[in-house]
Amino acid sequence: MDIQEMMKEMEKIFKPYETSEMSFREIPEKGVEKTTILTEMEKIISKESEKWKEGKVSGAVYHGGIEHIEFSNSVMALASQNNPLHPDVWPSSLKFEREIVSMVTRMLHGDDFVRGSITSGGTESILLAVKTYRDMAKVERGIKEPEIIYPKSAHAAFEKACQYFGIRGVVTGLRDDFSADPEDIKEKITKNTIGIVASAPCFPYGVIDPISDISRIAEDKGIPFHVDACLGGFLLPWAKEIGADVPDFDFSLPGVTSISIDTHKYGFAPKGTSVVLYRNSEIIKHQYFATSGWTGGIYFSPTMAGSRPGALPAAAWASMLEMGKSGYREGARRILETTSKIRKYVESMDELTLLGKSHFVVAFTSKKLNIYQIMEKMSEKGWSLNGLNHPPGVHFAVTLAHTRDGVPEKFDSDLRKSIEEVEKNPGEETGTAPVYGMAATFPEDAINELIKSVVEWMYS
Ligand SMILES: Cc1ncc(COP(=O)(O)O)c(C=O)c1O
Repeated sequence: MDIQEMMKEMEKIFKPYETSEMSFREIPEKGVEKTTILTEMEKIISKESEKWKEGKVSGAVYHGGIEHIEFSNSVMALASQNNPLHPDVWPSSLKFEREIVSMVTRMLHGDDFVRGSITSGGTESILLAVKTYRDMAKVERGIKEPEIIYPKSAHAAFEKACQYFGIRGVVTGLRDDFSADPEDIKEKITKNTIGIVASAPCFPYGVIDPISDISRIAEDKGIPFHVDACLGGFLLPWAKEIGADVPDFDFSLPGVTSISIDTHKYGFAPKGTSVVLYRNSEIIKHQYFATSGWTGGIYFSPTMAGSRPGALPAAAWASMLEMGKSGYREGARRILETTSKIRKYVESMDELTLLGKSHFVVAFTSKKLNIYQIMEKMSEKGWSLNGLNHPPGVHFAVTLAHTRDGVPEKFDSDLRKSIEEVEKNPGEETGTAPVYGMAATFPEDAINELIKSVVEWMYS
């Protein structure tokens, strides 16, 4: 498939509304009727919702229950004008954020000294933690050429943080079970190491890194240790309570100095919030920004943004109250049960090999067939799986949206059909399969530039 054909395929995916009457390049002279706007939005968004409502999208929508969504929407409508940048006008925003931090701290076995912030998502929480450790290392240890150590399964946000903040990312290897290798981490510590990172669990395979071993190394060497629990931090504590085998991964381990954890994933809050926690106030001070020299007056902000949508922390707070511990436990039970069904189906297919062991992610590859073409055949049947790289693979992250009757069985039958189709025509490459294929074989820098051109095209 050449580039032009590839772009045509992408056009279908990313720009399906270009020819619609309600497509604008300029602000219309006269305002459009509210009902017309709402009708158009309802039309396109309800069509887009079909996929996840059928339980066919990996991750992405973590709760999906209509009543829960409507409740969150009414909370957001109530707080739509709140801006946490003005805590004097909206002290309720401070209250919501403080209480989220406190509830999450307790869930993660933290004490009264733990401090934290609400951010816009996992990536911002990670960016802030990395920036915090860079600044702390500069002030406390005079480090001018900072390095941070993370396993190759850590989220891309760590590489992004390194690019943004001028830090050298030191990537460590994985063991055979796809978990971080503590020995490799230990070997790569230098006098410039500002922090160590591990995941509980990682995005690609859903595997929990050996957090307690790494915690011991970090404590021994006196190096900050960030646990990225963005994806599963809101699920693991409840999974453990209902009897799943979940190792310690939080503030119960003395070497863990910070944790990122997303309310907008298994916390079941609407998109747009995450929490970053630090073991004490001495660390978080390096995250905050304050200036008293600005002509605009005294200014401070705890996180990256200035003005922030106060509706989102309000909805995250309300979501945690609505769920309660019992709701989270029940959610975890259903998700773990569904995951175990799907894992068994995948395990029973000779053409596929599971990658790593996880409570809620099913990652797999194929030693016989093009795994990206299998993913593409699943897309043709309405499924949205996540492609993985190095090694090639795909994953399906199970959420409450997949715990409805019949979803695992449909996944099983569609996956079997997809395998058959690829077996019949093993050379075929359609949709995004060739893009993944190319990414696996071309030099990384060239592919990165190509991807940036595609991003530029997407937004133009
Ligand atoms: C382990 C992990 N960390 C961080 C992130 C980034 O989260 P966000 O997409 O909210 O920025 C993700 C997202 O899937 C994740 O799985």
